[in-house]
Amino acid sequence: MTLAETVTAAVARLEAAGVEAARRDARLLACRLLGGGPELLLAQGDRELTAEEAARIDAAVARRAAREPVSRILGEREFWSLPFGLNAATLDPRADSETLIEAVLAETGDPAAPLRILDLGTGSGCLLLALLSELPQATGRGIDISADAVAQAAGNAGRLGLSARARFLVHSWEQGLTLDDAPQAAAWDLIISNPPYIASSEIAGLAPEVAGFDPPAALDGGTDGLDAYRALIPLAAGVLRPGGLLALEVGYGQASAVEALLQAAGLEALRRAVDLAGVERCLLARSPLEAS
Ligand SMILES: C[S@@+](CC[C@H](N)C(=O)[O-])C[C@H]1O[C@@H](n2cnc3c(N)ncnc32)[C@H](O)[C@@H]1O
Repeated sequence: MTLAETVTAAVARLEAAGVEAARRDARLLACRLLGGGPELLLAQGDRELTAEEAARIDAAVARRAAREPVSRILGEREFWSLPFGLNAATLDPRADSETLIEAVLAETGDPAAPLRILDLGTGSGCLLLALLSELPQATGRGIDISADAVAQAAGNAGRLGLSARARFLVHSWEQGLTLDDAPQAAAWDLIISNPPYIASSEIAGLAPEVAGFDPPAALDGGTDGLDAYRALIPLAAGVLRPGGLLALEVGYGQASAVEALLQAAGLEALRRAVDLAGVERCLLARSPLEAS
C-alpha cells in the first residue's frame, strides 16, 4: 500500500473506534513514524511503504484505536513549546496547565530573579522545567511519589539542558516537605503544584484517553477531589519564605473551596487565572511578610 492509502485505511479504523480527530491523528502517527511532519503525506503520498514501515504504522494505529493518546504512542508531548518525554507514570501534560506558567511569570516580574522553586507532584517535570526555561537564574526541586515519574522528569531536564538547575526526588508530601537538601523552613520563594484533583467517583466516566492511560495517582483527588489540597496547602505555607508565592492549578469549580483552604493556612489569596476556555484554572497566593 502507498502512504496515502495507509492513512485512508487508518482514518476509517480510528473513526470506527470512536476517535474524534481520526484524520488528524492518522496523518500525525503515520508521518511521525516515518520520521517527518504532516507535510510528508503531500510529498510522499504515492510512495509504496515497506513491510516494516506498514507494520510500524499498523501497530500505532491499533494502539490509537484502543484509545491510547497520540502523545503516549509517540512518547512525547509539547508543553510551553518544549518537548517532554512521557512514560506510563507521568500525566500527559495539558495545555490548560500553561495558565499556571503564564500567571507565575506575570506575578514574579523580574526574569533575572534567582528564585528557588519547589514543584509538588512534578510528573514529567513540565511545570518546573518550563519555568526554569524562562527564568535563567532560578533553580528548582521537583518531588513526586512515583519513582518512574521522577526518572522521566530528570531525563526531560537533561534533554532540555536544565539539569544543572533542576533536581528531582522521590518523595510524598504525606511525609511533610522537609527535604534532605533543603532542611531549613521558609526555604522556597515559589511553590507550584498541579495536584491530582478529580473526584474518585468521576474518574471512570472520563474520556477513555484519560481514564485508561493517565496514571491514577495523577488523577485521584479523593471523595470530593480536594484531598491533595488539604494535605499540601498547610505544608507549603510552612516552607514558603515570607512574601513567597504559591501557585496551584485547580479543577473546574474548585477555585472557591481551594481559596478557602489557602486563607485557612494563613496565606493571602492574590488572584485567579483563567484558561483559554475561561475556566478558573490557577490560584495565586502569598505568604505574609511578617507573622501576624
Ligand atoms: C496531576 S499530576 C501533575 C503532573 C505534572 N506536574 C503536570 O502538571 O503535568 C499530579 C502528580 O502528583 C503526583 N502525586 C500524587 N500524590 C502524591 C504525593 N502524595 N506526593 C507526591 N506526589 C504525588 C502524581 O504521581 C502525579 O505525577
